[in-house]
Amino acid sequence: MKNSSYIAGFSFYVPESVLTNKDLEKLVDTNDEWIISRTGIRQRHIVSHQACSDLAYEASLKALERTCLKPEDITHIITATFTPDTYVPNAACIIMEKLGIRGIPAMDVNAACTGFIYGIELARGLCYVSPGAKVLLVASEVVTSRINMKDRSTSVIFADGAGACIISNQTFDDDVPSGCVQDVVLKADGSLGPLLTVKGGGSAHAMVPGQVVGDDFFVQMEGREVFKHAVRSMRDVSLEIMNRNSLTADDIDLFIPHQANIRIIEAVAKIMNIKDEKIFVNVQDYGNTSAASVPIALADAWEKGRIKPGYLALLVAFGGGFTWGATLIRF
Ligand code: UT7
Repeated sequence: MKNSSYIAGFSFYVPESVLTNKDLEKLVDTNDEWIISRTGIRQRHIVSHQACSDLAYEASLKALERTCLKPEDITHIITATFTPDTYVPNAACIIMEKLGIRGIPAMDVNAACTGFIYGIELARGLCYVSPGAKVLLVASEVVTSRINMKDRSTSVIFADGAGACIISNQTFDDDVPSGCVQDVVLKADGSLGPLLTVKGGGSAHAMVPGQVVGDDFFVQMEGREVFKHAVRSMRDVSLEIMNRNSLTADDIDLFIPHQANIRIIEAVAKIMNIKDEKIFVNVQDYGNTSAASVPIALADAWEKGRIKPGYLALLVAFGGGFTWGATLIRF
C-alpha cells in the first residue's frame, strides 16, 4: 500500500546571542585556529534566557506561516529534544500552550542528534494511522544548558537552535513548497551509549535536595571514538537507504548531513563519492545543535535557494545512544 508523506514549511530559529571562537578563548583553554581546523566552526548561537520551547515556538510559527496553516489545523505535535524545558510537562505540551492549541497529542522524542529523522518516521506512522493528520515536527535544543563551558572537548562544538516543519499524507497547496518523504532508515546501538552521555538528574543518577551538580550533569563525550562511529554509521545508513532505493551518489542532488564537525561531513561525503557542490554545510555559523541541526540545515538550504523542484535530498544524522538514521526527500 502506498504511504506517501509530504514535508513542508521548512523553518528555523536560532537565539540572537552569537558566541565566536574568540569569545570562547576567554572562557576556556582553546583558540580560534584549533576550533576552525578541527571542527570547521567559526561561531554559534546560544541562549541568554530562552528555553527549548521558546526556540521551538519561534520555528513552529514560521513553519505554520510557510504552510498557510493556523495552529488549530495541527493534529499532533512531536518535539525532538534531549534538552526539554522540564521532564514534566514535556516540551511538546509547553509548545502547544504557547501556540494556543489544546486537545491534540503532544509528545517528545529523545534520539539525541538523530531526533529529527526519528521524528519524521514517527510522523509518517501517525499520518498512516490518522489519514489527514498534519503533524508539527519541531526539533529544539538548548544544548548549552547541559554543557560545562569549562570543558573544551564539548563547549567549542555544541550550540542552541530549533528547526520545524509540517508532515502530512495530504499534499500541500500548490504555492507551498514541499517534498515527498520517500524512505526512512533508523538505527540504534545501546552498547555504544557510554561514549556520549548526560547522566546527572536521570533516575539512575538521582539527585537529592541541595546537592551540587557534578560533571556528569553535563555532556560527557569521548570525542575521538564518537567521531569514528559517526563517520561509519552515517556512511552505512546512507548507503543502505540508497541501495534499497536503487540509487547511486549521482542521483543525490543535495546531501544534508548532521552538522557535527566539518571533518566528519567531508569524510562521509568522500567515502560516498558525493561531489562537494552537493554537500550542504552550515556548521561554521551554527555549530552542533544536536536534533535541531538537520532541520536547521534543511531550512537554511531552502532559504539559500539550494533546493530546487525535482531535487532528491539525502538527510543523515548520528547521535548519542547511539542512534543514527537517514531519509530521502524528493522536492
Ligand atoms: O553530535 C553527534 C556526536 N558528536 C560528534 O559527532 C563529535 C565527534 N567528535 C569530534 O568532533 C572531535 O573528536 C572533537 C572536535 C570533539 C575533538 O577533535 P579531535 O580532533 O578528535 O581532537 P582530540 O580530542 O583528538 O584532541 C587532539 C588534541 C589534544 O592535544 P594533544 O593530546 O594532541 O596534545 C587535545 O588535548 O587537541 C587538544 N584539544 C584541544 N585544543 C584546543 C582538544 N580539544 C581542544 C580544544 N582546543 N577545544
